[in-house]
Amino acid sequence: MFQTTLHLLFVLVVTGRGLAAPSTPTGWQFNLKAERSGIVALESIVVSPTLVVFFDRATNDPLQINNHSAWGALWNLETSTVRALDVLTNSFCASGALLSNGTMASIGGDPNGFPGNPAIHPGTQAIRLFEPCDSPTGEGCTLFEDPVTLHLLEKRWYPSSVRIFDGSLLIVGGMHEETPFYNTDPALSFEFFPPKESTPRPSEFLNRSLPANLFPRVFALPDGKVFMVANNQSIIYDIEANTERILPDIPNNVRVTNPIDGSAILLPLSPPDFVPEVLVCGGTQTDTIDPSLLTSQTPASSQCSRIRLDEEGIARGWEVEHMLEGRMMPELVHLPNGQVLIANGARTGFAAIASVSDPVGGSNADHAVLVPSLYTPDAPLGTRISNVGLPSSGIARVYHSSITLTPQGNFLIAGSNPNNNSSVTAGVKFPSEFRVQTLDPPFMFVERPKILSMPKKLAFGKSFTVPIAVPSTLAHPGAKVQVSLMDLGFSSHAFHSSARLVFMNAKISQDGKSLTFTTPPNGRVYPPGPATIFLTIDDVTSEGAWVMMGSGNPPPTLE
Ligand SMILES: *[C@@H]1O[C@H](CO)[C@@H](O)[C@H](O)[C@H]1NC(C)=O
Ligand SMILES: *[C@@H]1O[C@H](CO)[C@@H](O)[C@H](O)[C@H]1NC(C)=O
Ligand SMILES: *[C@@H]1O[C@H](CO)[C@@H](O)[C@H](O)[C@H]1NC(C)=O
Ligand SMILES: *[C@@H]1O[C@H](CO)[C@@H](O)[C@H](O)[C@H]1NC(C)=O
Ligand SMILES: *[C@@H]1O[C@H](CO)[C@@H](O)[C@H](O)[C@H]1NC(C)=O
Ligand SMILES: *[C@@H]1O[C@H](CO)[C@@H](O)[C@H](O)[C@H]1NC(C)=O
Repeated sequence: MFQTTLHLLFVLVVTGRGLAAPSTPTGWQFNLKAERSGIVALESIVVSPTLVVFFDRATNDPLQINNHSAWGALWNLETSTVRALDVLTNSFCASGALLSNGTMASIGGDPNGFPGNPAIHPGTQAIRLFEPCDSPTGEGCTLFEDPVTLHLLEKRWYPSSVRIFDGSLLIVGGMHEETPFYNTDPALSFEFFPPKESTPRPSEFLNRSLPANLFPRVFALPDGKVFMVANNQSIIYDIEANTERILPDIPNNVRVTNPIDGSAILLPLSPPDFVPEVLVCGGTQTDTIDPSLLTSQTPASSQCSRIRLDEEGIARGWEVEHMLEGRMMPELVHLPNGQVLIANGARTGFAAIASVSDPVGGSNADHAVLVPSLYTPDAPLGTRISNVGLPSSGIARVYHSSITLTPQGNFLIAGSNPNNNSSVTAGVKFPSEFRVQTLDPPFMFVERPKILSMPKKLAFGKSFTVPIAVPSTLAHPGAKVQVSLMDLGFSSHAFHSSARLVFMNAKISQDGKSLTFTTPPNGRVYPPGPATIFLTIDDVTSEGAWVMMGSGNPPPTLE
């Protein structure tokens, strides 16, 4: 208890100083990286230090490959250019993650093709693999698909997925067919990739949380169990015992999963106890799901609800606080210093396309929120959320947009397309958005610490010493040093599957030239797989080092 209090005070002091700093021209900035990317980045995932995979639905994107519109591409973080990927199956509203061997798996999608694009196969049972790519430009790296032999057990549009303790994916929910608004043909089950058994596991939670339970928000907890939120309900799922423990509902009738998209994030885990806490923000209060009774002008909820997932925290239940505005489809993304970026979304309406009584163009949502906020988990309740010093993006990012932290330490923001296809641009309030931006934290414009080298592979529960360079501005006794081990997540539909930040005990040597840190004890605290390590000194973050946490072996497969 004493230690916790000390830690809290320390963080508060530092945070206070950060917030009080005058906003200068080198503060937070949005920067336009591409005017026309050629593809709507509906989903994004960082797959190497320089590459991000973008997926769109199979539609009429201008980017071409093999004589048809592309719906997958590699975004190059160094050159801000795209290289089209030839995708077989429709990746519309899919999920995904990195596996323990570094392979990216994208799963699920849409059953339909698109007129004039003959290359599309149904995506509902799709598994799309992108093997680790050593080429900084993605040269020679392709997506692997074999719909006949490599597919999910059940059809899933709008599923979620999370990497678990053995490095495989737990795949959750979704629906079998394309439906216009909510879950009318549900996949009420879990399965694994690679599979652990030959049939899906039925889930009562998914049945209870109908009908607004698409893209459930799911998190691997440090004891190996999985926390899930869907609609206004939450559970802890024990994978090994196949049991669900019901937790309290999200308070005040607020619903938080598609088509009522709030978002959720697992707050940073810290040694020695790694006690998990989950924050859920946005969504809306409603009792009906009938789209003809809903409007694009219905205010979104500003509510954030937070729960600590130990026995005491569960007994206490959800603690409520409020964002500075209501948000439908907010994005919650980790910063390496433990803060959470709240970005994007809209002040009113709902997710999905052209289904409520008064869509704006194709958008079920209106009043895009352009100014992000920061959430500081260790600050006292009521003071955690601020947008001081944060600029306006100038670009609406509503339905079908994505955002990810990059290995460089800034955020890559792309997409937005609440329309029937990718050619809706003229005279529409929320057009198909091809502009790609970064949101650059203040540390991008000052001298930053550097991690000079890092082993490619790190074992669990071990100490490592690596060479670093600390700028003189940050070399002072008492500096706040943080070393974070992060999964940057798979961004789709206002959720970042598998996103994770685990702080590591760390110390800088007296001469300031080396850093010693201790990796998490096991794969439950950080599921084995790719990770990015950042060094932050007094809120100035280094570029990340891309590592493999664990053996790098493939996840177990069914015998
Ligand atoms: C693309 O179209 C051109 C012209 O019609 C044709 O020559 C070429 O073989 C086509 N390429 C592919 C990969 O189908
Ligand atoms: C879902 O719940 C309903 C009633 O609440 C029940 O009738 C139905 O059998 C359940 N379906 C599944 C697949 O569990
Ligand atoms: C959650 O939703 C259910 C079904 O609409 C409702 O009965 C229940 O009261 C809600 N829970 C809370 C805490 O608002
Ligand atoms: C988009 O398609 C849906 C279904 O076909 C249709 O109802 C809607 O009017 C279309 N939206 C626009 C803006 O054309
Ligand atoms: C794209 O969607 C718009 C709006 O719904 C529609 O007018 C247009 O015909 C569509 N284009 C194609 C190629 O389907
Ligand atoms: C990683 O594991 C997956 C699942 O078993 C497999 O499909 C993929 O080929 C593996 N990749 C590598 C590089 O071993």
